[in-house]
Amino acid sequence: MTSEILGRELNLLDRCPRTHRPLAKNRSANDEFRRIARLFGREYFDGDRTTGYGGYRYDGRWIPIAERIRDEYGLTAGHRVLDIGCAKGFLMQDMIQVIPGIEIFGLDISEYALTQATENVQTCVVQGTAQHLPFNDNAFDLVLSINTLHNLPRDACIEALQEVERVSRGHRYVQVDSWLNEAQQKNLELWVLTALTYMDPDGWRELFRVAGYTGDYCWTLTE
Ligand SMILES: C[S@@+](CC[C@H](N)C(=O)[O-])C[C@H]1O[C@@H](n2cnc3c(N)ncnc32)[C@H](O)[C@@H]1O
Repeated sequence: MTSEILGRELNLLDRCPRTHRPLAKNRSANDEFRRIARLFGREYFDGDRTTGYGGYRYDGRWIPIAERIRDEYGLTAGHRVLDIGCAKGFLMQDMIQVIPGIEIFGLDISEYALTQATENVQTCVVQGTAQHLPFNDNAFDLVLSINTLHNLPRDACIEALQEVERVSRGHRYVQVDSWLNEAQQKNLELWVLTALTYMDPDGWRELFRVAGYTGDYCWTLTE
């Protein structure tokens, strides 16, 4: 399958520190760290920095991003939004705050993260995989997936992008790991804990075309 028209490269997260991921000195991933991280359990979110975030806590960083997403896609009360790979629901929480009346849903593979979601989003999250979304066709005005789809193997990643297409009747926004030069590629390969599909922007654009993905997109770069 080939896509009709791919969307725009659009960084809506440039005020988020993690879009520029500085390397921790003297640290690189190894197979055991990767095995533990890929369980997406407590060790990944709230364990040691070697196996993940080293503490995935709410710090309000998503508020300006939620505002940018709202303004870019003209979201208002009654619009339906899905966040794939919502983790503890921090972006969901801030979207509810900046867009009163929005209907927001989240999906994540991590039971641990979802049990940590705050009370106001607990009822709007579901455990599952991006590859098979438990939602009807055209169910959402915006489907987002930030730092998540690169965690699937290539074929599953293509299926997940097709799922994003299927459940959105409006906008789509995907951010994935990439690199702009050889040094960034080397750093990503050294650092990467959970991603299974990562490539340069041309590689991603080709994958988007293969999947028939027509949404907007952006990269997470390891500098
Ligand atoms: C790097 S975190 C990003 C979390 C959040 N979107 C953010 O940017 O802070 C990746 C998230 O993807 C989730 N995840 C990994 N594989 C997944 C899959 N196949 N389907 C859905 N979620 C997945 C993980 O549990 C984790 O919450």
